[in-house]
Amino acid sequence: MNVLRKYLMEQLEKAEKDIDTKQQWRAGYHLMPPVGWLNDPNGLCMYQGEYHVFFQYSPFDVEGGLKFWGHYKSKDMIHWDYVGVPLFSDQPFDMHGVYSGCALVEKEKMYLYYTGNVKLEGDFDYINTGRESYTVFVESDDGIHFKDKECIMTQKDYGEGLTLHVRDPKVWKEEQYYMVLGARTKEDKGVVLLYASEDKKHWKFQNTITTEQKFGYMWECPDLFSLDGQRILSVSPQGLKAEQRNYQNIHQSGYFLLQGDMTGKYTLENFKEWDRGFDFYAPQTFLDEKGRRILIAWAGIPDEKGYTNPTIKDGWQHMLTMPRELKWKNGKIYQVPVEEFQQLRGEQIEVKNHMLVYPSFELEYQNKSGESFFVEIEKDIKIAFNKEQQYFEISFKGEIGAGRKSRSVSLKQCDKMTLFVDQSILEIYINDGEEVFCTRFYPQNSKIMLYYHCNIKNCKLWNTKSYSIRRNFV
Ligand code: FRU
Repeated sequence: MNVLRKYLMEQLEKAEKDIDTKQQWRAGYHLMPPVGWLNDPNGLCMYQGEYHVFFQYSPFDVEGGLKFWGHYKSKDMIHWDYVGVPLFSDQPFDMHGVYSGCALVEKEKMYLYYTGNVKLEGDFDYINTGRESYTVFVESDDGIHFKDKECIMTQKDYGEGLTLHVRDPKVWKEEQYYMVLGARTKEDKGVVLLYASEDKKHWKFQNTITTEQKFGYMWECPDLFSLDGQRILSVSPQGLKAEQRNYQNIHQSGYFLLQGDMTGKYTLENFKEWDRGFDFYAPQTFLDEKGRRILIAWAGIPDEKGYTNPTIKDGWQHMLTMPRELKWKNGKIYQVPVEEFQQLRGEQIEVKNHMLVYPSFELEYQNKSGESFFVEIEKDIKIAFNKEQQYFEISFKGEIGAGRKSRSVSLKQCDKMTLFVDQSILEIYINDGEEVFCTRFYPQNSKIMLYYHCNIKNCKLWNTKSYSIRRNFV
């Protein structure tokens, strides 16, 4: 075994040895890093009846340092096994990070694609100089053990006019294989590069996909897929200006409808943000064996200065969102937690106007009158629909948001709201997923106060079961 890999494995074992899974704010069913830092979901797939979630993992640095891929798997997306780290940065072409990428499943095989990140030492801007981004291919016969990494693309394969920011391969199969990569041009415009291949390893450039007018300077983590026959391009653009209720986070994630021919003439239309909360970035989707298109995102955001996560003091940071099934309705995408989550419902609790609950519950509110309403958590978090001014908002006071203040979306009608609270994360699904808010929060007490300003007869509340994520090293 490569000496560097051996060293990193030993360090990892030390770092993961004393994990305290009982710490305050560890979630019950959202995926977290065993220790240290987590960011993007990677390599999402279903392989031989099991769901696989890889993730950007910095076990040695809670603020995000050297990135590896961590690995979880599950039979039902509820009970997950942590399988360890299959990809360390142990090669000259991924020395400074095994960056984001995807999985392709075919017959008995699982293939992973990722970006090998290299930063040269010296006086560089790391945009046009000093950085190398390799596309790397890895094969597996069992979804657990991986063969030698193969570097299949280098900067010269990405073409002219680009900065050195080219990354995050997403591969899928149609009549041939396709790959998209996110990139930043020399004019500081975010674009997606489309490639095709007959054999999964040799890729031919097909097209640059972007908007006519510049829409941010860099597009990270692209994903191109079809939902009910409509082609969708999901990207995480950086550099959009905040508008009244839109683009409030430092970086965004959303999708375009791709009309026309992705390899020829096309248009990108109707960009819509996936999520309106404070903590959401770099989503990726996959198709499961039941034919569902499922999205998982990082419930976090890079480079944010205005708010933080107090779990840093406990040596870990960030989570992934719940897996959300995507549905195409009324010309847009609705997102709902996969139905497996209903298994987590414990006893149904009687709803009262004021009540103390464990921060581990699901609340469903049917707003039969269609009027304004709000629900408060600890008096410091207000989740409200305002019928007169047609918006939905989550707002924070005091310490509970660790710097988070307010996020909102224009909304004419709110017939239903489902709120999932899991210790230090909440996800709000409005009108069965027409709009979604994902946000971290940090309650001080083991029970939190709920206060309803709505018709509580139309509320249903369940305790949700937690499970501890098992450690199952292979
Ligand atoms: C998105 C991202 C990706 C990159 C990865 C590195 O959050 O910046 O573009 O591959 O994170 O961790």
